Amino acid sequence: MDKQHKIGMFGFGCVGQGLYDILEKTNFRAEVVKICVKNKSKERSLPAHFFTYDASSILDDDNINLVVELIDNADEAYQIVTTALKRGKNVVTANKKMVAEHLEELLQLQEKHGVSLLYEGAVCGCIPIIRTLEEYYDNELVFSVSGIFNGSSNYILTKVIQENMSYANALKQAQDLGFAETDPTLDVGGFDPLYKLCIVALHAYGVIAKPDEVFNYGIQSLSEHDIRFAIEKGYKLKLLASIEKINDHEVSLSVMPHFVGKGHYLYHVENEYNAAIVEAAFSSKQVFTGKGAGGHPTGSAVLSDISANRYEYKYEYRKALAKKGSGLLPLKISYGQVQEIYLRYHDEQDFKLLPFITISEKYQGTDFNYVIGTVRLSDLYKYKNELNKRNVFVANTGKKISTEQATPILNGVETLV
Ligand SMILES: NC(=O)c1ccc[n+]([C@@H]2O[C@H](COP(=O)([O-])OP(=O)(O)OC[C@H]3O[C@@H](n4cnc5c(N)ncnc54)[C@H](OP(=O)(O)O)[C@@H]3O)[C@@H](O)[C@H]2O)c1
Repeated sequence: MDKQHKIGMFGFGCVGQGLYDILEKTNFRAEVVKICVKNKSKERSLPAHFFTYDASSILDDDNINLVVELIDNADEAYQIVTTALKRGKNVVTANKKMVAEHLEELLQLQEKHGVSLLYEGAVCGCIPIIRTLEEYYDNELVFSVSGIFNGSSNYILTKVIQENMSYANALKQAQDLGFAETDPTLDVGGFDPLYKLCIVALHAYGVIAKPDEVFNYGIQSLSEHDIRFAIEKGYKLKLLASIEKINDHEVSLSVMPHFVGKGHYLYHVENEYNAAIVEAAFSSKQVFTGKGAGGHPTGSAVLSDISANRYEYKYEYRKALAKKGSGLLPLKISYGQVQEIYLRYHDEQDFKLLPFITISEKYQGTDFNYVIGTVRLSDLYKYKNELNKRNVFVANTGKKISTEQATPILNGVETLV
């Protein structure tokens, strides 16, 4: 059934304006009734009658049948979205933090009030990964979903490695171009890809992973030494989010920088581009790439949700609900995986923080040191806060480690077990 949309929008920043522009250029059959914004003294590109500063003038308006939430504050977005759902309004949002932090409740509210919440724009910009996992990969045996889920970090990593730009300048450019979140720690601290990974986990495996249950580590302590290391070895650095099915009962999740060589699928994914690799039993490996940030790319994903909503599309969360109905236990989060990492450090104390299982390379220089060795994901998770506080940088070498390889026997190098 094709229905006429009467839209109440929250937010008219990078994505809100991008969406409005797209609605106009595509002549999409929907009326934007009101736009709620915050700052009364800001100049607007539309006449004043479009704007309100009072959320209730949208939420209390029975004429408005779709709320499009595009603000930059997750807590305020939560209030807006939950109120709208409780009042029987369908909602489209691009706010990954808000969705990831309240997945369980948002599922229940949709069920209870018979409404739909869509959030394709919240994950990987215009790459249609959520609906792809939900619909196309409905019955496939998905082995893993991984990729570059954060446009700003990828933009910064591209500029500092390929163009020798300083980290501070690259971050400033990402902000000026509208790719970075208002609080850049969300991007460079690996939180934005973490929230997206939690959403992906639900649609790929029916798993509700809370953000603080997952190891995430960003690029904020990247130094010239790490950049030189990558360049000398012919690698690029990519901030990768991944979820992998370990066995019939467990999945493993992480967000951290990875060194990738020329043969890697993501080696050539640059700037604000995102990518998602889905590996499954029968379709094998599929790579989706596209712009992961910016007003128009994200606005395009939001438009797709608005359009889907016109035909009453809802996520069915079949993977989560199937387990519930059948009495099967939901997949658990595993921390047992062994990873090979590069740890750049200055003080010996910082090196001793992580219990390495094996060490294959150790370099000690005048201005920095590094070690390459294997550690358990559980230890990375345990020392996550410490790693962020200390003068160190951690990246995954990208080498697949089997349990045998992680046996603590080393060629004459000290083993710390
Ligand atoms: N930028 C991207 O590339 C991108 C990509 C994917 C997803 N997203 C997500 O999209 C959302 C919006 O991001 P953005 O980059 O468009 O943010 P932005 O440019 O900073 O714009 C934020 C907008 O929200 C408004 N706002 C803030 N608090 C409000 C409140 N309580 N009530 C009403 N309006 C409020 C602001 O009002 P004023 O205009 O009055 O300041 C502004 O118009 C975020 O959740 C972000 O994570 C962004």
